[in-house]
Amino acid sequence: MTGDSKSSCPLKPYRIFATCAAWLGTLACSVGAEVSYYDSIKPVLAVHCHKCHDAETQKGELRLDLAAGAMKGGESGEPAIVPGASAKSEVMRRITSHEKGEKMPPKGPRLTEAEVARIRQWIDEGAKWPQRDDYWAFQPPREVAVPGGEAANPIDRFIGTRLEAEGIRPVERADRRTLLRRAFFDLVGLPPTPEEAALFLDDSSPGAFARLIDRLLADPRHGERWARHWLDLVRYGESDGYEDDKIRPHAWRYRDYVIRALNADKPYDRFVREQIAGDELWPNDPDAWIATGFARLGAWDGMSKDPAQQRQDFLADTTDAVGAVFLGVTIGCARCHDHKYDVITQRDYFGVQAFFASVKREAREMKVPPIEPASITAACKAESAELASLKTVREDLLRDAREILESEGEKKIDDSILKKKAASQYPGRLEKLDAEIKALGQRLRFHVPKVEAVFNDGGAAPKMHILKGGQLSRPGEEVTPGFIEAMAPAEHSQPSGTKRSDLARWLVSPDHPLTARVMVNRLWQHHFGAGLVATASDFGRNGRQPSHPDLLDWLARQFVAEGYSLKQMHRRMMLSEAYQRSASPDTATAAAKDPENRLLWRMNRRRIEGEAIRDTILAVSGVMNRAMGGPGVYARLPKGVNVEFPNNDKELSWGTVTEEDNRRRSIYLFQRRSLSFPLTDVFDGAPMNQSCAARAQTTVAPQALALFNGEFAREAAAQFAARLRRECGGDAEKQIARAFQLAFTREPSEAERSSTLGFLGTQAGTRATGGEEGALTDFCHVLLNTNELIHPD
Ligand code: HEC
Ligand code: HEC
Repeated sequence: MTGDSKSSCPLKPYRIFATCAAWLGTLACSVGAEVSYYDSIKPVLAVHCHKCHDAETQKGELRLDLAAGAMKGGESGEPAIVPGASAKSEVMRRITSHEKGEKMPPKGPRLTEAEVARIRQWIDEGAKWPQRDDYWAFQPPREVAVPGGEAANPIDRFIGTRLEAEGIRPVERADRRTLLRRAFFDLVGLPPTPEEAALFLDDSSPGAFARLIDRLLADPRHGERWARHWLDLVRYGESDGYEDDKIRPHAWRYRDYVIRALNADKPYDRFVREQIAGDELWPNDPDAWIATGFARLGAWDGMSKDPAQQRQDFLADTTDAVGAVFLGVTIGCARCHDHKYDVITQRDYFGVQAFFASVKREAREMKVPPIEPASITAACKAESAELASLKTVREDLLRDAREILESEGEKKIDDSILKKKAASQYPGRLEKLDAEIKALGQRLRFHVPKVEAVFNDGGAAPKMHILKGGQLSRPGEEVTPGFIEAMAPAEHSQPSGTKRSDLARWLVSPDHPLTARVMVNRLWQHHFGAGLVATASDFGRNGRQPSHPDLLDWLARQFVAEGYSLKQMHRRMMLSEAYQRSASPDTATAAAKDPENRLLWRMNRRRIEGEAIRDTILAVSGVMNRAMGGPGVYARLPKGVNVEFPNNDKELSWGTVTEEDNRRRSIYLFQRRSLSFPLTDVFDGAPMNQSCAARAQTTVAPQALALFNGEFAREAAAQFAARLRRECGGDAEKQIARAFQLAFTREPSEAERSSTLGFLGTQAGTRATGGEEGALTDFCHVLLNTNELIHPD
């Protein structure tokens, strides 16, 4: 989306606003309850009336966004709303009238009968128009008592209370093998090796599952796994996007920073502050510098001819990302008009944006050496030295040429004469040198210790204005940095300063209504398949309401009290009975009462993401390259994918890859905005241009085709077969047993064993080439195409 706000609304509201979140009748909604202005009236007026009756436009001299305006009325002189008397209220007359020149809105769809009824009731109840919105998500998490009960883990008390109230009996605990695989996929994104599996399965002493979780949380692959979730959220990419899609050679440092932070269990409040204002808060910490790259991870229109618009687009992208990622609300909806559903105004939006008014987005040399793989430091050193020597050779060449020219009496020696002479003297040498220097420079730029981040230059911040309709050409009143008023408790209502660190401090203030809730909900989402708030980046009124509001608040406060430790939170969630339930829907009453499993009477069945599928295939085939960190790798593309990128260095369009790098984990694949990696893309990859809170889960034919016909899976099958031969010799029984252990962490059933044996026999005979080896490869290929491989449950 560009900043051109003539374009109409990018998102149509996807859910009709409802007073009653009616599922299971659990949320505050009882017949005859008073109608709340913010819940039920404001959204209707905002959607249907404000565009003609608000601060910006006052048709008929009427404002309907403020109580005073509505009570006073417009040019008719009649009050639009008479509290307690709907019959005398001009608003009622207008919204029920069908007459041209009378009815409101004058054009387009009428208000629904339910909306009209609610407005009538609200007016008759006194048209209460509170100063502040008391929407739950904008109030600090409440202190809630853990319900009584048998369960040791408080999570289960909260969940159990609700299940009991609904008369739903949860399903049994999953078997140990399932738990093992679930824990592995959740925490490290890979299946256990048979040896890793044995460590848990052979340990029947109490606490074995807790020890498994601890091992996995301490495993460096954990950071790689969870970094993927974070990178989805922060719209991470390693190129600019748009037409020219320029490479960002230092972007990978942000990815590695996230992996490091997660592995070190960096407290989440620090993690947030580093990303918003690391440069201000910890100027000597290279990781804090790298972290501020958050602000500029979004796409960037490098070809734009309009620098002011280009910058505005950048600011809008950053502001929207702060809202989506840290606050979990759609503040971006308040860029062009006040938020239609939540109490977030354009002033709030531009207030947040103003914190970024003075930032420069630049790649800068780091003052302190960054943490990076030794190979990167070494490559940088070697390449710098080589580059210097190539340049010396080039200079020598030109000096020679100059001396010759001088000796020939040439007076005016300019660059082109010099080059011509060098070319005639040393045919081809200069061109070759220049090509080498260019290629080397391109490699070197990935390795130099630079960060792609944002900085303040100390100069005064340019003045910021509300932009009417979100348009740069329509500046409104000036704004200074400010917090979102509806979310700011009294003591934070005004920022004490105007720096990004003030914004960061507000975000992680212990009583912040959203930061902790949103993050624990994200952890929950990835462990359970759906968040307690199912719309993980929309805690607003247009999102879904929490299934377990008390549990959400309890977790949020616990998170803060425990120093924002993510690993503690993972542990707590995974040690609950709720997490350890089977995924099979075997109680008919439960399925009938709560088909969506919002009450968590079973585990949700999930498919692993495309990245994890690729990683699992590499791991099972025994060829995964475990190297960590460094620039993104251009894993081999399937044949036929178009790799022509306009306006870009050809050699960087999609680079080459060594055999080892082709087997790196997917988190290290180059994230090119204009060409997402086909295998991960086909399994609902994350769009890199906007924050992605939850991957889609589609089931479409190209997925099966990618795994069945794709070169990657076919090669992997051959490697898997080679591994079986290496580890089991020619013994087919052993090969089959090992294959099942590697892929599924279990023995084959008797039926599977005998049918596989049969298959290997006949396939060896029917195959045109390859015989037994080929048959084993075909069998491996089948295993790599099973549902069981990519569904932990
Ligand atoms: C497309 C623009 C537009 C929209 C949308 C709109 N109005 Fe109006 N409204 C007008 C215009 C123009 C007038 C003045 C002419 C008239 O009185 O009919 C007016 C006048 C009114 C008046 C009379 C004010 C007075 O005292 O003279 C009321 C009350 C009113 N609108 C209520 C509403 C309500 C409630 C909604 C939403 C359900 C709404 N309007 C939506 C354009 C609009
Ligand atoms: C790029 C500018 C822009 C952004 C961003 C934007 N809108 Fe709009 N929206 C408009 C314009 C223009 C209108 C029409 C005028 C009006 O109602 O204010 C509109 C109207 C609406 C309406 C009234 C009904 C309709 O379709 O006319 C709703 C509801 C709405 N927007 C919701 C949203 C939501 C939700 C978001 C965030 C997901 C959002 N808007 C973000 C520009 C924007």
